[in-house]
Amino acid sequence: MKPAAPTLAPGGRPGNEFYDGLVLGLERARAALPDEEASFFNRPMSDAELVEWLCFQAYYEKRAAEFIGRWLADTPELDAFTLLARQVRDEARHYQLLMRALDRRGVPSLDRWRPEPEWEEWIDGWYPSGADTIERVAAHNVTGEIGAANAIVTIKPRLPDDVAAAIDKILPDEQFHMRLGRTVLARHCVTDEARDRVLARTRRTFELEQAGRAAYNRRMARLGIADPDAPTPPLA
Ligand SMILES: [Fe+2]
Ligand SMILES: [Fe+2]
Repeated sequence: MKPAAPTLAPGGRPGNEFYDGLVLGLERARAALPDEEASFFNRPMSDAELVEWLCFQAYYEKRAAEFIGRWLADTPELDAFTLLARQVRDEARHYQLLMRALDRRGVPSLDRWRPEPEWEEWIDGWYPSGADTIERVAAHNVTGEIGAANAIVTIKPRLPDDVAAAIDKILPDEQFHMRLGRTVLARHCVTDEARDRVLARTRRTFELEQAGRAAYNRRMARLGIADPDAPTPPLA
């Protein structure tokens, strides 16, 4: 069954009504997804699954550093430019932390790892696109990074200590990236036309996120790591 598209929820804090409406709409759409995770998260991850999860996360962090870095030459808003430049450094550091965790498990690079087609469409195609700063930030900082951070918090109890310690270094930065999204939209998404474009970007990102999670399940089943009917693991 196709998940319901996020809609704008009314209310919100003065000055942040649009952002709050977006985020609440996303929360409701995610909450309406099948609740499959309760028992899944209670067991530790196998080594094979952990390596797969780390490879995906490292790939995503590296791509984020790359596509946000490419935006900088086309970011006329001075405040957004400064914030996004800091985010590039953060995402590169996250990539490094995750690669160190992989290296400790005998995986020194991602050279032999290939993403699923759905992940390429979502992370290599969709996130980097966007006509301007608000479209890019709406897709990645607002929709994508809130989903990713929620997923990481949920999966953390299943992670070994060294990976959980890396996650503890990553999460505060991700909170900053989410606040960045709120700040940029509050300052620069100020017309009905801009809000319509941002909402459309949010909805499409949500669809691609769900397709990406389904692809993760399919891949785990193919690798014999998880049952195809097993709960959806969290994914950035
Ligand atoms: Fe990150
Ligand atoms: Fe981030």
